[in-house]
Formats: sequence, structure tokens, C-alpha cells
Amino acid sequence: MKMHARNLLPCLAVIMITCLFFTACAEKQLEELIEQQEEGQTETTSEPVQPEETVAVPLPGLPDDVAGYTQWLKLNAEPIPPVPGGDPHNGDKNVYVNKTREDIAPNGEQQFPYPDGSIVVKEAYRPGKDFVGLIAIMRKKAGVDPDHNDWEFIEYVRNAADAEFRVIAEGGICSGCHARVEDIDYVFTELE
Ligand code: HEC
Repeated sequence: MKMHARNLLPCLAVIMITCLFFTACAEKQLEELIEQQEEGQTETTSEPVQPEETVAVPLPGLPDDVAGYTQWLKLNAEPIPPVPGGDPHNGDKNVYVNKTREDIAPNGEQQFPYPDGSIVVKEAYRPGKDFVGLIAIMRKKAGVDPDHNDWEFIEYVRNAADAEFRVIAEGGICSGCHARVEDIDYVFTELE
């Protein structure tokens, strides 16, 4: 059968339009696909970021009530150096209390005695060591030891940065020496 050019033209036009239509469709589908993928990607990357855990964890072997003690009020301004000729708590020391400056020095001057529930924590970096090797704790508990202003004494030590603290001494051996500063409620270090 013989085809005339004038018959062929409309045919070609129909084919071209159909092609264009499908290409447009395909393009649109592709765009949608890409969009979906992008959405999927942003979904996975924009997962809600959990805020950092701020719950304090005690150093291994220490009781929970001293967790986060380094965030407490520090009594000393500068680390307390080792006492020459024999230090009962050898090392560079910081002393913290679970009270505010306002609680213990309401008019800018420290008041004694410490309130019930006070906890005083002393940390010591042993000479030449870069981790806390000693923790001494004084807890004020009503009725626990009326002869020594109701302070409870306990001390822990460890020999490595990842080791657990162990109790080394407590009680009368501590309060006996701290009685030297009975007039300032048994706590040598005053608020600076
Ligand atoms: C021979 C005396 C002596 C003995 C024993 C002693 N301490 Fe101390 N302690 C001190 C002195 C002095 C300071 C302050 C200066 C320093 O830390 O170097 C101090 C500081 C502390 C502090 C920080 C608050 C403060 O008083 O300045 C705590 C807490 C503490 N001792 C707990 C204990 C515990 C617990 C024991 C017993 C296991 C103990 N101490 C035994 C002399 C002693």
C-alpha cells in the first residue's frame, strides 16, 4: 500500500504528541520518586536528637548521695596542696558541700554549725597522679554522734583511674583529729 506524505503527517503528529505525553509522565514520575527518596532521607537524618543525659553518676564504689559532687559549692578557691611532713589526706585537694553560698554564708560570712543534711566531700589527687584517688566524706545527720556535732565520717581510696573506691577508715579516728576545729564545726576548710 502506498502512503502519501500528506497522510503521514497527522500520523507522525499523533505519534509525537503521544511520545511527548509519555516522556512528560515519566519525568513527573521520576521527580516524584526523587522527592519521595529525599523525604525518606530527611526523615532518617532529622530524627529527634535526644538531649545529653544529665543525671549524675557517682564514681565507681561511691554512694549515690555524692554523685555529681564536683557541681556543688567548692569551699576552697585554689587546690589545697599536700601538708608538708605528713598529710592525713595526702594529695592536692578540693572540698565541696551540697549547699549554696547563700545557705552557709547568708550575709557573706560563713555561719556555723552546718545545717542537718549537709554533705562535705573532699577529693584528693594523689601526688603525681591525674585521677581522684581519695574521697573523704562528712555527713551531718541529726542524732548520729552528738559528741561531734552529729558528723558521720568515712573515707574511700583507689589506686587506678578505673578502679572501684573502697572504704579505708571511718568514725572515731577521723572525728578525733577533726575535733581540733570544733569551733568551726569540725570542718578545717572554710568557705573562700
Ligand atoms: C590527723 C588529722 C586528721 C585525721 C585523722 C583525719 N583528718 Fe580529715 N582533715 C584533716 C585536715 C587538716 C583537713 C583540711 C586540710 C586538708 O585537707 O589537707 C581535713 C579535711 C577533711 C575533709 C574536708 C573538710 C575539712 O575538714 O576541711 C573531710 C571531708 C575529711 N577531712 C574527712 C576525714 C575523714 C572521713 C577521716 C577519717 C577517715 C579524716 N578526715 C581523718 C585532718 C585529719
